Amino acid sequence: MTKIIYIINGPNLNLLGNRETEIYGQSTLNDIENKCKEYSKNLCLDIVFKQSNIEGEIVNFIQEAGNKASGVIINPAAYTHTSVAIHDALKSLIVPSIEIHLSQPAKRESFRHKSFVAEVVNGTISGFGPNSYLLAMKAIDDLLKS
Ligand code: DQA
Repeated sequence: MTKIIYIINGPNLNLLGNRETEIYGQSTLNDIENKCKEYSKNLCLDIVFKQSNIEGEIVNFIQEAGNKASGVIINPAAYTHTSVAIHDALKSLIVPSIEIHLSQPAKRESFRHKSFVAEVVNGTISGFGPNSYLLAMKAIDDLLKS
């Protein structure tokens, strides 16, 4: 049976393709969404892809996913390093969740070394560019099957 997975993207990820391409690469968020939707066919997942620059909207997406989805993949972007609200929203989920990043925050500025999200998700995948999204889809599919 096909399972719904929310893929939630935080602030400034709408600028991918133009933003710090030496770190984040050339793919736009739309390119990544298309890759995820293509890959979802292999896994029997149905992807709902969201982006917001607003912290409260991201909390709303997580709560919506809690009612409608079998799992959550989230790139909280800069809110990773600041947001107690997103931490709390993820903590309240019963379904599995995975934190992802295009870059490897641990190799970057020290303010990116702290994740408020890591403590409340099943796992984190970072540093693989757009492939982080696909690896997380595989991981959540495996989790849902186990
Ligand atoms: C990011 C890493 C964050 O530190 C940063 O604020 C982002 C993107 C990533 O995908 O590598 O906006 O989440």
